[in-house]
Amino acid sequence: MTMKILFYDAKSYDTEFFQAALPEFPGLEIEYLKSDLEPRTAALADGFDAVCAFVSSDVGRQTLEILHRKGIGLVLLRCAGYNNVDLEAAQEYNICVMRVPGYSPEAVAEHAIALALACNRRLYKAYNKVRENDFSLSGLMGFNLHGKTAGIIGTGRIGAAMCRICRGFGMRILAYDVYPNESLRELAEYVSLDQLLSDSDVISLHCPLTDSTYHLINIDTIRRMKDGVILVNTSRGALVKTDDLIEGIRMHKFAGVGLDVYEEETNNVFEDRSDEILEHSTTARLLSFPNVMITSHQGFFTREALTAIASATLQNALDHAQDKPSPNQVSAV
Ligand code: NAI
Repeated sequence: MTMKILFYDAKSYDTEFFQAALPEFPGLEIEYLKSDLEPRTAALADGFDAVCAFVSSDVGRQTLEILHRKGIGLVLLRCAGYNNVDLEAAQEYNICVMRVPGYSPEAVAEHAIALALACNRRLYKAYNKVRENDFSLSGLMGFNLHGKTAGIIGTGRIGAAMCRICRGFGMRILAYDVYPNESLRELAEYVSLDQLLSDSDVISLHCPLTDSTYHLINIDTIRRMKDGVILVNTSRGALVKTDDLIEGIRMHKFAGVGLDVYEEETNNVFEDRSDEILEHSTTARLLSFPNVMITSHQGFFTREALTAIASATLQNALDHAQDKPSPNQVSAV
């Protein structure tokens, strides 16, 4: 058996980690492509069996229709989230979609706490101040996390890891999830979203982007938060309504906002746009505030996570080729 996989949006680190894992998966062949998957590039999959896509790939109906015409039966997502895939269309075109859930929850949770700490103590500012020989402490005051309350929205794999980290800091943990995680009963107190919003000093988002979580953080939910709260989003950009977030920042609601993901990120993620003039950029508006820190979807970016992503993605391909049922398959229902 040979399965030929066209790997879209390949960066040097993807090639490095996938090539390192490949010898353990005989029968799989990968060709790496710099372009991302979208309707214009889908036809390049002619002659392949599967495509490998990532968080910013456009795996909508049009792309899937073209992939189907080119004989593709498998989309391998090398990420956990699958909000960029039209699952109904995939089902219609008989294309199996597989993802990599939980490849390294700690990678993302550790980045979430890093953002909370960096915002709280204004590390991005402190770093630049000292480089300019400005050793004053103005603008750098934060608050102790110890004894404060962390509000974790979504307590799956990453949210649970975040609960454990926050507990390590000596925080009280409030959690909100539509399906409470039994293993966290000792660690976290499940409360309503309302109570979590009003009682938390640090709020971190770890639920997936779905119709019910779209713009979960909007001006109404922001108004219900404590003044001086720190908001962290390492999950998906559209969980937060950016215009409302900006309004909230202007209302002085937040001590800090740490974003690894944001609504406008698709054209930015993993690209060097430092020489461009970005028009209509709400990202630039967000960055104009002294209490906002943005990173470019790097929560997953650790050696451990990339190793796990590569082997789990290739295992998905193998399971599919051998007709093995897999919990990593995602479907419309
Ligand atoms: P998971 O599936 O283990 O957990 C998600 C949790 O959210 C589940 O417990 C689920 O019940 C809960 N949930 C679903 N709908 C909800 C709602 N309406 N309100 C509250 N909770 C709800 O997923 P995991 O692995 O913890 O990942 C979470 C998210 O993190 C992913 O969906 C993805 O968007 C994001 N992510 C970000 C990365 C990054 O690099 N920044 C990397 C990996 C994942």
